[in-house]
Amino acid sequence: MTAPAQSTGYTVAILGATGLVGTQLMQILEERQFPVKTLKPLASQRTAGSSVTFMGQDWLVEEATPEAFEGVDIVLASAGGSVSEALVPEAVKRGCVVIDNTSCFRLTDGVPLVVAGVNDADIEHHQGIIANPNCSTAQLMPVFKALDDAFGLERVIVSTYQSVSGAGKEGMDELINTTRSVFKMMGESDIPAPTEKEFKVFARPIAFNLVAQIDQFVEGGVEDGYTKEETKVIHESRKILHKPDLKVTCTAVRVPVMVGHSESATLEFKKPVSPEAAMDILERTPDVVVARDPKAFPTPVEATGQDPVYVGRIRRDTSNPEYGLNMWIVADNLRIGAALNAVRLAEVLVKHNWLKPKQPAGV
Ligand SMILES: NC(=O)c1ccc[n+]([C@@H]2O[C@H](COP(=O)([O-])OP(=O)(O)OC[C@H]3O[C@@H](n4cnc5c(N)ncnc54)[C@H](OP(=O)(O)O)[C@@H]3O)[C@@H](O)[C@H]2O)c1
Repeated sequence: MTAPAQSTGYTVAILGATGLVGTQLMQILEERQFPVKTLKPLASQRTAGSSVTFMGQDWLVEEATPEAFEGVDIVLASAGGSVSEALVPEAVKRGCVVIDNTSCFRLTDGVPLVVAGVNDADIEHHQGIIANPNCSTAQLMPVFKALDDAFGLERVIVSTYQSVSGAGKEGMDELINTTRSVFKMMGESDIPAPTEKEFKVFARPIAFNLVAQIDQFVEGGVEDGYTKEETKVIHESRKILHKPDLKVTCTAVRVPVMVGHSESATLEFKKPVSPEAAMDILERTPDVVVARDPKAFPTPVEATGQDPVYVGRIRRDTSNPEYGLNMWIVADNLRIGAALNAVRLAEVLVKHNWLKPKQPAGV
């Protein structure tokens, strides 16, 4: 039987509680027995009044308003960038510490951008907001950090293969609907046709396809022609690794996979490196699971619902054999890339007694 919510602990608000990440947040808080005394599920007006189940109890979903944060200790926010922009400062004003899953504050000075187990110490001087990185950046970080410490990371080329759940519930629905539509066109007339316009979340039909656009295109400057998703990998990696000059480039692609992001990474180091030495280091790295056998490469389906980052296909970069490696990095985007990391950051706050900012909140 599920234990009741705890009699001591924290009042935790989930901003975006009815969404994919919000649902995972509650599941992971429960799995890891985070000390939640009271849960405050918040969402839009649309779903306010419904309920969510947590620790065997039903909790009423309230509309997210500034006043809803009164008396809350920790806010785990995943309701989109514009919602965070409007409400996170309101929560901070009311004394909450916010762990934000959106891109809104990730690159803001004074806001730590943290992957648990990689740069936890950055949290100590937070001013009320801690940012969770983009999902494709997050899963790279434990691997890159360990290899950077050993060999000095100089340059990274990433190509992402990102699942539709990275675009929320609507992204998953769109994969199902466009897949149904293709089957219907093939004569499977007993499969119902999608009732809405066939694609609106992704720039092209996602079923049986690849879409080389995630988020909007950047116009002008050196990043002209990149998508914002690609620039997130570039800038967030530099901030998390404390390497502002790290050379990073990225191509981000949406693939017809439900959950689990996969990434091909080519890494160039300062010191000579070998696949064996890299695998030895990664095997000793917390939160990372290494497939030494090339045939044992990870897949997103196998990574779904799992906590580690999986790394396989570690091999020399034939164009740079002494200093370069290629690898394949896979993880559950809803966990590592969002909910699990957010809960682990909350655990760090509690463990070190860092809940209250050390300086007055400047937001
Ligand atoms: N999916 C991922 O892999 C991932 C990874 C990292 C970060 N993120 C970020 O997390 C955020 C949410 O992602 P998701 O995948 O959970 O999306 P989702 O499934 O579409 O859920 C969105 C949530 O936000 C709520 N919401 C929407 N508009 C709101 C408003 N005006 N006021 C209050 N709540 C509102 C929704 O409530 P209603 O049900 O009431 O509409 C729902 O609970 C996004 O910013 C996303 O970029 C997602």
